[in-house]
Amino acid sequence: VPETETIRVERRGRVAWITLDRPEALNALNAQLMREVVATAKELDADDGVGAIVVTGSEKAFAAGADIKEMADKSAAEMREADHFGPWLEFARVRKPVIAVVSGYALGGGFELALMCDVILASDTAQFGFPEIGLGVIPGIGGTQRIVRAIGYPKAAELVLTGRRIDAAEADSLGIVSRVVPAAELQAEAERLATEIAGRSLPALVAAKAALDAALETGLEAGLALEAEQFTALFDTEDQKEGMAAFREKRQPEFRHR
Ligand code: CAA
Repeated sequence: VPETETIRVERRGRVAWITLDRPEALNALNAQLMREVVATAKELDADDGVGAIVVTGSEKAFAAGADIKEMADKSAAEMREADHFGPWLEFARVRKPVIAVVSGYALGGGFELALMCDVILASDTAQFGFPEIGLGVIPGIGGTQRIVRAIGYPKAAELVLTGRRIDAAEADSLGIVSRVVPAAELQAEAERLATEIAGRSLPALVAAKAALDAALETGLEAGLALEAEQFTALFDTEDQKEGMAAFREKRQPEFRHR
């Protein structure tokens, strides 16, 4: 993993943790942080020793959005020229499971970063919202697209058009998060969940994510065809043989991740 200044990167077993670390700006996503997260995620995606990636922030803020101070004075031409948020697309293309562990503010780009992850584990202190409309802009890192797919148009439209902030309980009832846990249990539960996922067969995890992604991208026929192909291809992996042998032998599988 490359040297980083705005994030901390740790490995615990097969889980890699990316912790956003700009406390002075509530982890606002500036260009440097974006580059560091994207480069790190790509390296971890290519590392066979990693089964799952966790992205988290501080107790007070997962991330309070894109860095407003950095972009405030830019023209449209400058934003276009710099491809200001473009690299985030590569983060969304990571093949392995990515788990957002959210405490405190997940606003604007911070909410969008969480929505790019596969699983969102939230503390009961989490707050989500798209404040962009109040800044004279709109979500720019996928928010309008992913929130509609996550919760449907009417609920999504209200959040984007008003900028209203919602708490963890409402986010849970809307289906925005995978699960909410008490703040005091967030770290332990995140560790447990990430370790559980990362212990599964890596080829199966990657196939599962590809198939889930297809549900968002394609029509039903194409999605079913992709799922069938992903399912079938796993029968050439050692882990499929091991997983099914372990079942017949009434023991736990020992996956080799190939
Ligand atoms: N960009 C830059 N700096 C930010 C920031 C952001 N998104 N969010 C917070 N900060 C900075 C504050 O400016 C402040 O810095 P100073 O001490 O130098 O003034 C520091 O972080 C601490 O923040 P506050 O003093 O405001 O903390 P608070 O507890 O009083 O309020 C908050 C917390 C309600 C989250 C408030 O900080 C806030 O409203 N932040 C902005 C949220 C926002 O509008 N996000 C959307 C950004 S636009 C976007 O994300 C576009 C997109 O789709 C890509």
